[in-house]
Amino acid sequence: MLRQGSGSSLIGLCASPGGSLFGELTVPGDKSISHRALILGAMARGRTRVEGLLESADVLHTAAAVRALGASVRKDANGWEVEGATWRTPDGPIDCGNAGTCVRLLMGATAGYPLTAAFTGDESLSRRPMERVAAPLRLMGARIEGGPTLPMTVGGGALWGLHFVNEAASAQVKSAVLLAGLRAEGEVEVLELRPSRDHSERMLRSFGVDVDVRPGPNGTRVRLGARRELTATDVRVPSDFSSAAFPLVAALLLEGSSVRIRSVLTNPFRWGLFDTLAEMGAAISVGERRPTGGGEEVVDIDARSSALRGVEVPADRAPSMIDEYPILAVAAACAEGTTTMRGLGELRVKESDRLTAIVTGLRACGVEAAIDGDTLVVEGCGGPPAGGARIDTHGDHRIAMAFLVLGLAAQRPVTVDRAEMIETSFPGFAALMRRLGAAIEPA
Ligand code: S3P
Repeated sequence: MLRQGSGSSLIGLCASPGGSLFGELTVPGDKSISHRALILGAMARGRTRVEGLLESADVLHTAAAVRALGASVRKDANGWEVEGATWRTPDGPIDCGNAGTCVRLLMGATAGYPLTAAFTGDESLSRRPMERVAAPLRLMGARIEGGPTLPMTVGGGALWGLHFVNEAASAQVKSAVLLAGLRAEGEVEVLELRPSRDHSERMLRSFGVDVDVRPGPNGTRVRLGARRELTATDVRVPSDFSSAAFPLVAALLLEGSSVRIRSVLTNPFRWGLFDTLAEMGAAISVGERRPTGGGEEVVDIDARSSALRGVEVPADRAPSMIDEYPILAVAAACAEGTTTMRGLGELRVKESDRLTAIVTGLRACGVEAAIDGDTLVVEGCGGPPAGGARIDTHGDHRIAMAFLVLGLAAQRPVTVDRAEMIETSFPGFAALMRRLGAAIEPA
């Protein structure tokens, strides 16, 4: 029995080489869309039904948070139901666990209500930068205490508008400003020099809010219109491409593999890994696009084992694949030739310092890798890397999953020191991989 799913045990996992992956699978719901469905539903007038919600630790923190703020959130046999409310001061601090999206979007959303909300998080979240959200919210009139990291307290109330430049290309920061702006007086506009994922914009529209998006030569302008009231609607959460990325790359790397991943979100601002893998020579293809509601679309993805070659990944692609660099680095390690990935400064402030975690882990597995400023260079082994290492995940779910995939494709097994945090984004990861034929066992 695999204990990885228990959530509290600090048990590692070991991935052993050999075999191929075969079959059809569905990965869990999209994390970004799941957080937003709960938050927007909790702010809306009426009852929102959410189907396919990602029931991961991160998203369950958001469910508990909006409940503490006054919304009613229930789960039944058909999915989740959220009854919106005017938010109130919660009884105690809101614990956001490991979830950056939870805390940053909620700081924005709470700022528009006459309440006081304190936010806390786990060790990793408590190290991540929050000033990037607090600064624009203060400019809108919110009172924010603490910082630059958690714990922080938001004193919300009457806000005014803001023209904000989203320097970090962060969808979380953009979303925080837009959510605060829903209850602000005056113009609210975010200018993005490099566009970030647009799930908030799409979902706000499906809740009846006017959102105008104008791409232009000097960036994309996202502006709230006059209609800023949310009306409940139903949300169907598509499968998360960021989770699909792990079995997808594993299928490319393991000889004789062929997998189909069903109904995966295909948002253009999330699609950078697919384009990069195609440039590397991956045998991947997508079926027909199908609308999934809320302005999003899904596709089935087919992947077969492939001989990959190294590529240059430009900096302007980074926002569209920001969570995928750990698994791309693993693909690069098995490719023929050098892969250069530019513009990765944001990786230093994810669930761990991912730039360092990637390079340290790759080197431990016998792969040459280096960081030069914000650039990551991986020298491909042109086949299976040595492996045979125990990886320090720094408690980061995507580092753990990426190195388990490396272990499947390596000459010798790879162990990750912890695995319980995989639950934050991909509950059932190990079991699903094993169903496809992967050898991943508790260690
Ligand atoms: C997310 C945005 C990204 C991403 C995170 C989810 C979101 O973070 O890394 O996993 O749901 O808006 P940044 O906004 O910090 O780039």
